[in-house]
Amino acid sequence: MHAVGIVAAAGSGLRLGAELPKALVPLGGRPLVCWAVDALRAGGVDEVVVAVPAPQRAAFEAVLPEDVQVVVGGDTRTASVRAALAAAREHADDQGRTAVLVHDAARPLTPPAVVARVLAALADGARAVVPVLPVVDTTVTVDADGVLTADVPRPALRRVQTPQGFDRATLVAAYAVAHGSAAEFTDDASVVRAAGVPVRTVDGDERSAKITVAHDLALAELQVGW
Ligand code: CTP
Ligand code: MG
Repeated sequence: MHAVGIVAAAGSGLRLGAELPKALVPLGGRPLVCWAVDALRAGGVDEVVVAVPAPQRAAFEAVLPEDVQVVVGGDTRTASVRAALAAAREHADDQGRTAVLVHDAARPLTPPAVVARVLAALADGARAVVPVLPVVDTTVTVDADGVLTADVPRPALRRVQTPQGFDRATLVAAYAVAHGSAAEFTDDASVVRAAGVPVRTVDGDERSAKITVAHDLALAELQVGW
């Protein structure tokens, strides 16, 4: 199956608090977005489209490999992925299917094995697949005053990571449906599930953690031995 990677890199990184957009912040001396592109390719993705913030387009083009397609993203992650999806060429295999893997630039250290597991599930016939991890902490709900109201049983809970993989036609159709709705989506599996498509899971990896705050970046620097 031909696989296109989309990297959502158009966020500003408010919670990280760096002067640069988060995807340009260096990890081990290289911008996060470069790590994310490499992770997709190492796992078997054939071509990559990156959605970037309009003002920094040139800065992204300067650090990304020549054969990576750069598009301007939008105000939300959903809008950024939609822009990249529109730019991603159709490239059907013998069965007429193209895989699309949507990844966060904020997950620089995703092991290639995770990407490969997502691709394998798609090749096996899944229309949508996400890498997940169990919830290890005791999990509760609280009321408006922060007082504990209930324990949440953990066996059915999962934390969802990226890259999330889709049959291209399925993802395009789901994004078209989502366009008309007021719902806000934080990932692509939610968009597809809202369109009624079953989403399969594969094992994620703790090393694929998202860099959100400064502490996450410090941990990632330790991982790369910086
Ligand atoms: N993203 C995007 N376009 C947006 C917003 C987010 O492509 N309009 C991307 C980010 O670049 C990031 C991924 O979506 O790789 C996950 O989002 P998040 O971790 O929230 O990153 P930011 O939005 O940049 O950070 P923050 O929310 O702290 O501002
Ligand atoms: Mg954000």
